[in-house]
Amino acid sequence: MITLVHVSDVHLDGSARSTERVERVVRHISGLPGPIDAVLVTGDIADHGTAEEYETARDLLRFPYPTIICPGNHDSRPEFRKVLLGEAGSGAPVNQVLRLGDATIALCDSSIPGRDDGYLDDETLRWLAEVLESSGAPVLVGMHHQPVPVGIPYVDEIALKEPERLEEVLHAHPQVVGLLVGHVHTAAATTFAGLPVYVAPGVASTALLPQESTAWPPIDFDLPPGFALHVLADGRLTSHARVVL
Ligand SMILES: [Fe+2]
Repeated sequence: MITLVHVSDVHLDGSARSTERVERVVRHISGLPGPIDAVLVTGDIADHGTAEEYETARDLLRFPYPTIICPGNHDSRPEFRKVLLGEAGSGAPVNQVLRLGDATIALCDSSIPGRDDGYLDDETLRWLAEVLESSGAPVLVGMHHQPVPVGIPYVDEIALKEPERLEEVLHAHPQVVGLLVGHVHTAAATTFAGLPVYVAPGVASTALLPQESTAWPPIDFDLPPGFALHVLADGRLTSHARVVL
């Protein structure tokens, strides 16, 4: 059995508010009795993609567990690489794999530099196919952008484009048991390519359905930050959402 913590959309922007919310979530997760096998952070780390914001992220996103982080639409690949990964500041996609016993987490970079919608480019899909070809079950695929509409129009407009490209890779590799994404800023569950898709709650804010709010954009900044716990057992993904008061 594998237990993962899933954090997303921390949007560190230099403000006391964003810092406090991230500190609160990290403190809570780090204080859990555990064991936790790994922490997955699915993008929108730095609100403006600056080196200073990544330095804050590097200082705050410290968990007593293996941690794997991908970029979102607010992130800047070169700064992300330099500060969070200690690598040269390349603009190439930041694709990473984490092996946890028999389980594999393949974390894809779905960001498009300078845009809010998402796309898995040829390099990333080739990388994902190679990871899947060298992995047995179970595999979880993570990325920032959701591959299907979730009923919130403003965020559905900036979803993953051409998701059929991903669907083709997933259909060829049945060891994938689920997808873990962020971007939406609300805990949500849906399906794609016959697989469960879990959308992590946002740390920075919570997006609402049109049925819940007439505000534009329909974002609630007062609801508490959240995260998710994923249990992977017997080839089945089970997800639990939590808020941190
Ligand atoms: Fe976000």
